[in-house]
Amino acid sequence: MKTFQDYLDTINQAIAAIPYPDAPRQLYAPIEYHMALGGKRVRPVLTLMACDAFGGDSSLALNAALGIEMFHNFTLLHDDVMDNADVRRGKTTVHRRWNDNTAILSGDTMLTIATQYIVRCANWPVMDLFNKTAIEIYEGQQWDMDYENRSDVTVDEYVNMIRLKTSVLLGCALKTGALIAGADDQQADLLYQAGVNMGLAFQLRDDVLDVWGDPVTFGKEIGGDIMNNKKTFLLINAMQLAQGDDADELRHWLNDPYATRDNKVAGVTALYERLGVRQLAEDAIAHYNDLAIAAFNQANIPDEAKNAFIGLANRLSGRTF
Ligand code: IPE
Ligand code: IPE
Ligand code: MG
Ligand code: MG
Ligand code: MG
Repeated sequence: MKTFQDYLDTINQAIAAIPYPDAPRQLYAPIEYHMALGGKRVRPVLTLMACDAFGGDSSLALNAALGIEMFHNFTLLHDDVMDNADVRRGKTTVHRRWNDNTAILSGDTMLTIATQYIVRCANWPVMDLFNKTAIEIYEGQQWDMDYENRSDVTVDEYVNMIRLKTSVLLGCALKTGALIAGADDQQADLLYQAGVNMGLAFQLRDDVLDVWGDPVTFGKEIGGDIMNNKKTFLLINAMQLAQGDDADELRHWLNDPYATRDNKVAGVTALYERLGVRQLAEDAIAHYNDLAIAAFNQANIPDEAKNAFIGLANRLSGRTF
């Protein structure tokens, strides 16, 4: 039985061996920079694990795993422009180190490289799933941006938005590995459901860490979501719970264009703490993690594969990184 570290080593070696053309440097250097920054590599590991779980040869899933990780990194280049983020994986974001045009065009190139890797699997259902997932992610990212300017976003709308922007890619990563191993549709869909629920817990944890994380281990600047008025689970619940002075103060932070970063982040964080919304998020994370575990348990895979998936789901839902 391979460990997470074994899969990670395989992925990292394959990423380090990706050949990039020498020129134009302005196009390829940011791609090499971003791919070398590391990150958790959760998605490609899930693909390889799912392939092995169904008795497949995970070396055949490696191209798909690389395509999915390259695609994920492309979304991050564009996401950091959209979210005005300075730091990613503890390093300067591509659009800050170079500029927005570079993040756009190098990102576009990564999307196409990702597609080249997926096509190499020569597996029509995998290609179809990949394209469907990509469009869902763009939809989720658009909802995420639209919601910055709305004050009536519901928890259901939020859950659907994070399902699209984040969860479907974890589902896709798992289902892709299952399909390459030759699992039937019902089994592949069970892993997809597990991945979607894992992804909901994953994004909820990301939102919690954006407020209370340690920037050194989390690798991103704290308070980005607060500065952008992102309608996270925390903010939506706070807006629903705040009364009287708390409601006035929250409205002030959401509407004052001159608020400094330090003051706004500290003010909104203090409100979140007074209103107890962190615990609500922890409860929601536990709920979606339980749903993910239930789906893994239903899958027709060996117990040691189930345990490996469940261990990973638990580790990610409680992560600090
Ligand atoms: C970041 O994804 C974007 C989200 C969906 C929260 P990861 O947290 O997987 O980022 P890396 O790849 O490990 O840096
Ligand atoms: C990102 O959500 C989802 C995608 C990149 C598609 P976030 O905007 O919360 O991700 P981070 O926090 O910047 O990694
Ligand atoms: Mg974003
Ligand atoms: Mg972001
Ligand atoms: Mg985030």
